[in-house]
Amino acid sequence: MKNDYPHIFSPLTVKNMTIKNRIVMMPMGTNYGEQNGEMSFLHINYYEQRAKGGTGLIIVENASIDSPQGSNGTTQLRIDHDNYLPRLFKFCENIHRYGTKIAIQINHAGASAISSRINMQPVSASDVPSKEGGEIPRPLSKEEILHIVKKYGEAAKRAQTAGFDAVEIHAGHSYLISQFLSPITNKRTDEFGGSVENRTRFCRMVIDEVRKQVGPFFPIMLRLSADELMEGGNTLEDTLEYLDYLQEEVDIFDVSCGLNGSIQYQIDANYLPDGWRSYMAKAVREKFNKPCISMGNVRDPRLLSVSWLTVTQT
Ligand SMILES: Cc1cc2nc3c(=O)[nH]c(=O)nc-3n(C[C@H](O)[C@H](O)[C@H](O)COP(=O)(O)O)c2cc1C
Repeated sequence: MKNDYPHIFSPLTVKNMTIKNRIVMMPMGTNYGEQNGEMSFLHINYYEQRAKGGTGLIIVENASIDSPQGSNGTTQLRIDHDNYLPRLFKFCENIHRYGTKIAIQINHAGASAISSRINMQPVSASDVPSKEGGEIPRPLSKEEILHIVKKYGEAAKRAQTAGFDAVEIHAGHSYLISQFLSPITNKRTDEFGGSVENRTRFCRMVIDEVRKQVGPFFPIMLRLSADELMEGGNTLEDTLEYLDYLQEEVDIFDVSCGLNGSIQYQIDANYLPDGWRSYMAKAVREKFNKPCISMGNVRDPRLLSVSWLTVTQT
């Protein structure tokens, strides 16, 4: 197998992380968390099976940086308090035994949170629901934005302390950062809305705060909806433009797509051809020359050997 696919099984070094191969497990919410948001032993066992299988890098499902306001999912993981450190540490220790590297995705759900579960009105860039017929969120004040930026930084620092090898900021899929980036959900008229520079400001502040907390050698990954695939949303060309404002401190781009309104592309419907969305990661790779991750119905390793598709070395 290794001889058939030399590229897939070649290592990749990004900052102080060396991944043994180019196989990445994408973040997928499991709802395996404990009621208090702690990582469960079910979780540890689930991810351990993937590490045993030879995965180079596992990206742990989205963990809340500010609960209850930013939480998404009934038993979602949390990383917004030091109480969560011991179990996360145990997790990292277990996975590292297999030579697998691990990142954790940090997230604030914004308007994608549900008031009946979080007991408050969800928040966002503007008062635009994150999906048709969804709840109307409350626009964040500048003071609240600054508070949330700090929470991202604290969560990233916790990930590093627990033993993760990298942190992934979730900036796609209709969650809070995506709600600021997208012209569909960002109708603000202050310095966080309108121009590309303004719409990227919140995300840029988050990346900068995360970098401040984790230091220069710890890899930062950014997950994007590179093409929102919705009328009035960011196209791939728009994303390539806005990434000029964001790319500096990003070490790996995790190039996803779609919003809540185009979920069939975000969580690829079966009828979509194998690797259909790899052109998006290719475009990001070509413009910024940084490692990129692609995904989406990749059902045959031969696909990876005939195209550029997989994490590519800078
Ligand atoms: C059950 C489920 C949960 C998911 N949770 C997340 C998540 O927490 N964060 C995220 O960025 N993407 C999430 N995704 C999207 C996946 O990471 C992935 O990009 C998508 O399912 C395409 O996967 P594929 O390459 O296996 O087709 C989820 C997908 C599924 C099916």
